[in-house]
Amino acid sequence: MTYTVTVDPSGAFLTLQNPHATHRFHAIWLRDNAGDPETRSTANGQRLITLADIPQDTAIGHGAIKVNTLEVQFAPEAKSVAYDIAWLIAHAYDTSLPQQRGRTPADVTTWNAAKMGDVPVADFLALTNDAVSLCNWLGSVNQYGFGKVIDGPVAEGALFKIVDLFGFVRETNYGRHFEVRTEVNPTNLAYTGLGLQAHTDNPYRDPVPTVQVLYCLESSAAGGDNMVVDGFAAAQRLRDENHTYFDVLADHAARFEYAGEKGVHLTSRRPMIELGPDGELVSVRFNNRSMAAVTDVPFDKMATYYAAYRRLGEIIDDAAMQVSFRLNPGEAFVVDNTRVLHARKGYSGEGTRWLQGCYADKDGLRSTYDAMRNALEAAE
Ligand code: FE2
Repeated sequence: MTYTVTVDPSGAFLTLQNPHATHRFHAIWLRDNAGDPETRSTANGQRLITLADIPQDTAIGHGAIKVNTLEVQFAPEAKSVAYDIAWLIAHAYDTSLPQQRGRTPADVTTWNAAKMGDVPVADFLALTNDAVSLCNWLGSVNQYGFGKVIDGPVAEGALFKIVDLFGFVRETNYGRHFEVRTEVNPTNLAYTGLGLQAHTDNPYRDPVPTVQVLYCLESSAAGGDNMVVDGFAAAQRLRDENHTYFDVLADHAARFEYAGEKGVHLTSRRPMIELGPDGELVSVRFNNRSMAAVTDVPFDKMATYYAAYRRLGEIIDDAAMQVSFRLNPGEAFVVDNTRVLHARKGYSGEGTRWLQGCYADKDGLRSTYDAMRNALEAAE
């Protein structure tokens, strides 16, 4: 693609143009993002200067295209910097993106029950032995917020082998991992048919554990299927049904609390629907069991807040939003706990169910995915 460059007479910005697109870049943005060895370390890519090292009156003196490179001369430093045009285009900010509240990041795809037939699944051996399989599966987890693993070892602690694929365990007061063991006894109504509403885990932590791994070791009871709901899809459905409901949950902090064991009192103050400053969905927190008294909603909005909370719960409980699947021994699932809610459906009959769970971090998963993808693309 052939570009031309035009420097504004003020020197404050330049314009890169081809027949299909026009991108403006400010002098200060270009200078701050210079990749020359005096500005960025050639060893680790980290910036070596602060903004104070760049003159406040930085301006573009001259700009020229040389093949795939844009050369810029900055005044008053009399400094010349070359930019890869493809990099500039990939990082262009002169766009008029729709700024709808509640939109998802570009690399996220929302889903509902129709995803049931297309759960991201990978074979344990393939994940451990084949970089392409692992990269693809991590990409799916990043995109959809959950993924299943099959054909893993039926052994205590095998869940850590899943975490080893992409990151590190996040230890909490529940330990490095926790046991989810259920004896299903139909004579005890407390257990028979007991399901849990879909939820995100540990919203009372700050930050929350961003990834959860659940690994099945025994599953002889009928029922007890696992179920997941895309919290981003639920939030968007709430928004599309009733903007006021969406706004009241996004604009006010909820409170979450756990003090269920000696020496522990975890609290957080965060909205159920968390947005970035530009309205992009950041996370969803939903957990009826650990919601504390909400005190950050004004009196005249509290009734609306509760109506919105109730409606969000109804959307989450709607079968049309839910993907369920059974976990057999040696199978596991990974969820993005900032987005995807999970639940256990009720049981019937007798039997046992034993899962081990642990937490890990989403930034590690994304880091592993991005680094693997870049390495695989570079090797092509
Ligand atoms: Fe949970």
